[in-house]
Amino acid sequence: MVNATTVLGVVLLARHGDRLEFFQDPFTYNPAQTVLTPLGSVQEQQLGTFLRSTYLDPASPTVIDGISADVVDINQVAVRADAGGEGAVILVSVQGLLQGLFPPTTDNNITLANGTTIVAPLGGYQAIPVESVEPNEDVSLEGFTSCPNFDNHINQFYASEPFITEANIARPFLEKLHKFLGDRSINFTNMYNIFDFVNVQSIHNATFLAELPPTFGAQAYGFANFHENGVFTGAAPGDIGNVAIRTVLPSIFTSLTRIANSSDPLKLALSEISYKPFISLFNVTDATSTDPSIAGIVDYASVVSLEVHAPASPADEPTVNMRFKNGTSDPTFHDLTLFGASSVPLSQFISQLAPIALNTTQEWCTACNQTTLRGCSVFNLDPLEGSRST
Ligand SMILES: *[C@@H]1O[C@H](CO)[C@@H](O)[C@H](O)[C@H]1NC(C)=O
Ligand SMILES: *[C@@H]1O[C@H](CO)[C@@H](O)[C@H](O)[C@H]1NC(C)=O
Ligand SMILES: *[C@@H]1O[C@H](CO)[C@@H](O)[C@H](O)[C@H]1NC(C)=O
Ligand SMILES: *[C@@H]1O[C@H](CO)[C@@H](O)[C@H](O)[C@H]1NC(C)=O
Ligand SMILES: *[C@@H]1O[C@H](CO)[C@@H](O)[C@H](O)[C@H]1NC(C)=O
Ligand SMILES: *[C@@H]1O[C@H](CO)[C@@H](O)[C@H](O)[C@H]1NC(C)=O
Ligand SMILES: *[C@@H]1O[C@H](CO)[C@@H](O)[C@H](O)[C@H]1NC(C)=O
Ligand SMILES: *[C@@H]1O[C@H](CO)[C@@H](O)[C@H](O)[C@H]1NC(C)=O
Ligand SMILES: *[C@@H]1O[C@H](CO)[C@@H](O)[C@H](O)[C@H]1NC(C)=O
Repeated sequence: MVNATTVLGVVLLARHGDRLEFFQDPFTYNPAQTVLTPLGSVQEQQLGTFLRSTYLDPASPTVIDGISADVVDINQVAVRADAGGEGAVILVSVQGLLQGLFPPTTDNNITLANGTTIVAPLGGYQAIPVESVEPNEDVSLEGFTSCPNFDNHINQFYASEPFITEANIARPFLEKLHKFLGDRSINFTNMYNIFDFVNVQSIHNATFLAELPPTFGAQAYGFANFHENGVFTGAAPGDIGNVAIRTVLPSIFTSLTRIANSSDPLKLALSEISYKPFISLFNVTDATSTDPSIAGIVDYASVVSLEVHAPASPADEPTVNMRFKNGTSDPTFHDLTLFGASSVPLSQFISQLAPIALNTTQEWCTACNQTTLRGCSVFNLDPLEGSRST
């Protein structure tokens, strides 16, 4: 643990669990629907149980001060989930996580005027409100689709010398892998989809798993990490390549500030998301400088925690530090660095990242050069002569 003072609260970013094949257009990241599996729900429930033992157990050194641990106080908890391209995968995932975080308890009861005590259904199941974040109404959890400047960034990456070099390195491997891929393209631009197919089949198809040479899964993962890290980062933090986290930052700032405010009840803010914002977050916070291995696709049911710790002395301000757990097979949190430090004052965390935050839909429309979709047309109030031609 980097910081021994009281934990005031946490901002959590969690990835969904195991799902079936997920195709994304390599040039736009436009998604195709898929479904969460029972394994995915189990992974999320295990993640929730882990987070409960870390942040809600009074015996944990990082228990959140003053949190209602057994019966949830819904004023202390704010939960959002990406309702975008995967279909309901992420919305359903968050239910599994919450089942582990706040499991059913017979304490979830009420005694009526006639003296009868009623326990909530399913042994005291705790239903927790989740905000469903629809990309067409709120770009914050899926700012990377329908974003023309991001598409330009992807094309520039595909045309770059490092990409072409890596594609040449990958080619002999992809030629050997080809016979396992059905009719899927082995063009390196398609590397995410190749990896996803191999990964999903390796988990769900016994014949495929038995036939695939043992190192192929890890090799595909390695090449996909290169691919996705290039797509979802930028040469500078404010580049459009980092749009996946730039739209999430405003809600992170708001939650951290609310947690630090002792008059505000919020203690735990959770956003359930895809793997993309993780990659951009690790890039804009410089975390990958200290831990290069985290650059890439985090495993299913991974979590990042931004912990808000009370100041070491009353004259100081609260601090923020970042921890990461890479999916179900990773047993514990790992401390990451923020701008090279193990923790930073809250005001510094915000002031360092505020310049790259996309705070409003209008700012996103401008950054993306999107003029029609996602509600951007209402900001396009300056009709140009040329826009009426052809
Ligand atoms: C109802 O909840 C209280 C705690 O709030 C607990 O002490 C009590 O045992 C519960 N009653 C039942 C019937 O489970
Ligand atoms: C008290 O009211 C509840 C809810 O209407 C009902 O289910 C229960 O049977 C009542 N108990 C008694 C003792 O009348
Ligand atoms: C891979 O796809 C890109 C984009 O469609 C294309 O420009 C390139 O020629 C393709 N590469 C090969 C080796 O077919
Ligand atoms: C499982 O993998 C085998 C071997 O690659 C393939 O022939 C079969 O179509 C796959 N089954 C499904 C349901 O995808
Ligand atoms: C702290 O929270 C209280 C209660 O929500 C609110 O009235 C107050 O404005 C907040 N203070 C700051 C500095 O945001
Ligand atoms: C962020 O990503 C860019 C582009 O991939 C890379 O050049 C830069 O080194 C990355 N920054 C860190 C801290 O890893
Ligand atoms: C995350 O976990 C996956 C699956 O266990 C592994 O392949 C990958 O290398 C891990 N990544 C990091 C950064 O530890
Ligand atoms: C976005 O919000 C942050 C934090 O409130 C603020 O510092 C920054 O100036 C805002 N950006 C713009 C462009 O208004
Ligand atoms: C924005 O997109 C339009 C096409 O929709 C294009 O004509 C224009 O050059 C783009 N502007 C910038 C700054 O990229």
